[in-house]
Amino acid sequence: MSFAYSTTRLLHDEHEAALVLLERTASALRRQDADDAAIVSAARHLAHALRGEITEHFTFEEQFVFPRLIERGCGDIVELLDEEHQTLNEAFAEILDLIAPLEAALTADLDVTRFRRLFGVVDTGLRGHIEKEELGLLRMIEEFFDRDLDAEAASRHGD
Ligand SMILES: [Fe+2]
Ligand SMILES: [Fe+2]
Repeated sequence: MSFAYSTTRLLHDEHEAALVLLERTASALRRQDADDAAIVSAARHLAHALRGEITEHFTFEEQFVFPRLIERGCGDIVELLDEEHQTLNEAFAEILDLIAPLEAALTADLDVTRFRRLFGVVDTGLRGHIEKEELGLLRMIEEFFDRDLDAEAASRHGD
């Protein structure tokens, strides 16, 4: 897929990176020989991304993309995507609570059964959200943004 605007390309690249992260975590959980250390390492990596780049991605969409599209008449779809952010943030908070003691080095143990269950919720929810945005949000940006708006939004990326 080729995009005219930087905003669309930035979001698309971040979606791809998030899918790689989900796949890496899923594959650590799937491996027959996976020991706890491999899963713990995947959990730490996931937590780092959820708190960092994925939260930044959500914030960028909420602050610089969604409002512009609502102004241009795309409120229904954008509201749905925004609600999904809230639901996903709740799922992220739950899995981050589970991983936090590992990150703080308070324990080396992870409740793998619970991690597997919570990751299942995050994995399904985030994949579905990204799919909707790839099909809907990115097309709306390409249709309703203009050069100035794109330049303004892209310049705020990473703020
Ligand atoms: Fe989103
Ligand atoms: Fe997104």
